Amino acid sequence: MVIEKTYNIIILPQKKRLKAKEGENLFHFLVRQGYPVPSACGGMGTCGKCRVLLPEGARAPTESERVHLTEAELEAGWRLLCIQHIDRALVLEIPEVEESVRAKELLNKVLRIPLDSGVKKAYLELPKPGQEDQRPDTVRFQEELGEGRLTFPLQVLKKAPNLLRKGDFKVTVTWAANHVLDLEPGDTTRAQYGVAIDIGTTTLAGYLLSLNTGVELAVRSQMNPQRSFGDDVISRIKRVHEQGEAGLRELQKAVTSGINMVIKHLCQAARVSPVHIYKATVAGNPTMIHLFTGIDPSNIDHSPFIPVLRDSLILPALELGLDMNPQGQVHILPSISGYVGADITAGILYTRLHQAEGIQLFVDIGTNAEIVLGNKDRLLACSTPAGPAFEGARIKYGMGALPGAVAHVLLNDRDLKLEIIGDGVPKGICGSGLIDLGGELCKVGLINERGNFGRRVDLPISERIHQGEKGQLQFLVSDGSKPIYLTQQDVRELQLAKGAIRSGVEIALRELGVTLNEVEMVYLAGAFGSYVSRESVLRIGMLPEFPLSKIKPAGNTAGQGAKLCLLNRGKWEEIQGLTEQVEYFELSYLKDFSRVFMESMHFPRHPHLE
Ligand code: FES
Repeated sequence: MVIEKTYNIIILPQKKRLKAKEGENLFHFLVRQGYPVPSACGGMGTCGKCRVLLPEGARAPTESERVHLTEAELEAGWRLLCIQHIDRALVLEIPEVEESVRAKELLNKVLRIPLDSGVKKAYLELPKPGQEDQRPDTVRFQEELGEGRLTFPLQVLKKAPNLLRKGDFKVTVTWAANHVLDLEPGDTTRAQYGVAIDIGTTTLAGYLLSLNTGVELAVRSQMNPQRSFGDDVISRIKRVHEQGEAGLRELQKAVTSGINMVIKHLCQAARVSPVHIYKATVAGNPTMIHLFTGIDPSNIDHSPFIPVLRDSLILPALELGLDMNPQGQVHILPSISGYVGADITAGILYTRLHQAEGIQLFVDIGTNAEIVLGNKDRLLACSTPAGPAFEGARIKYGMGALPGAVAHVLLNDRDLKLEIIGDGVPKGICGSGLIDLGGELCKVGLINERGNFGRRVDLPISERIHQGEKGQLQFLVSDGSKPIYLTQQDVRELQLAKGAIRSGVEIALRELGVTLNEVEMVYLAGAFGSYVSRESVLRIGMLPEFPLSKIKPAGNTAGQGAKLCLLNRGKWEEIQGLTEQVEYFELSYLKDFSRVFMESMHFPRHPHLE
């Protein structure tokens, strides 16, 4: 018999201890464990993002590590994760695994909704069997509960006889829709919980709620471990195209492990046992939902963009591998199309667009931006590829909304003020900082309508415009030990991202036949939508010129909608109707989409500069 050798892997700063098989690739091992390893190349050794610190015993650097890391970093023990193979015990530290500060701050909101989760628990003192009472155990339950015919899963039936007799026939039964979920000795009726989960392409968010009281007990967010396979849904689908079934399983395992990590933290924070989580609701874009359920999303990424699944699903947790009660029910929210998913139906449910009298606009800003426009009479939806610039990708000094990110910028004729997440030394620029930089530079005329840098002799701040690589101009954002620039290419990426959103909004207004003035409210959804400066959004022309008072940051509406469905069966029924009520239109099929997109890439004129 061959005995596989294993090694201890210790992850700092949590001092988390894992066991790994000899010869395994460290990158793939950690992704499988649910660690969100930063990567844009899927572990091919080409992007340089999967940096890891090996404080002891780092091996001689490879060619690729020499390209992506400085001499000083190599000297200090920095290496690339995807190049390491497990051939010894390792102690390592991965940066940026910490949860997004902003996502965490945003999540904690309380909902007021009548409690009707559909999960029920009852403590029973059952009559004991005897010569006069030879009823089977299951009949004993049914008659005592008086809830009609109950179905019992095999796993529960197997433990019933011992549990009943050892517990003197005093038991707690949990059921939903006449299906028994669990039996426990004694009275555990107080322990009844549910989780709402939002699977974002970038971030996983989880909320633990008491199904007895509706109180939110814990909130957790972390990066989606699938990020290790690429920043956007297209790169994840590409992985499935290339690797087939193995790639699909790998991505499913990564997201499931990530969600299980979220559940584990939620349970630890609230001192709750995962077996007492009986219900989960899950929102996410269509690709995320397909990958989570192990359904091949391959047909979503090419015309005519067909998903396998649009309707909702209810599956046992056991089947999906979620660490909660194995018979607990996982409710997957319905979608609208291949690119407008359950995160958007959840957002509509929460913001009540489908019941509004006046026209409302809903914009969820992500790597794909989803746009919904209308009211109770008609709702139109489309999706537009904003790209990962707002997540910090493809921006030279870009980063996520993590400590050290430049989050806001104020600029005057001579100077600029930076707001840094966590107040430390600036390390890079996150999405809201990018939009502010664009907006402020447009405001003072250092970026023109076409997005080109230009100096103005009358402005001392112009001195921050330097010549960079290949003679292109760039703007010095911070000149600390590690200077940070906004490059001309970064401005192009910003133009592409904001142009995609603006063109989607312009076309939606036209298709619905409404003017700007008729729009009563504009919701900016998602963590990003809540932190971005509304003034800067208008200054760069990402949205048409709505009055500021109409633009409302709405937070993580996907998570809020999932919570509504968790706590109230009526809301679960209500969301089903959105699949039919919302009309999807495909932007790329419209003849003039390219023209509108090109026009939308321009920055607005700022009249005081003329
Ligand atoms: S270099 Fe891209 S994941 Fe390692």
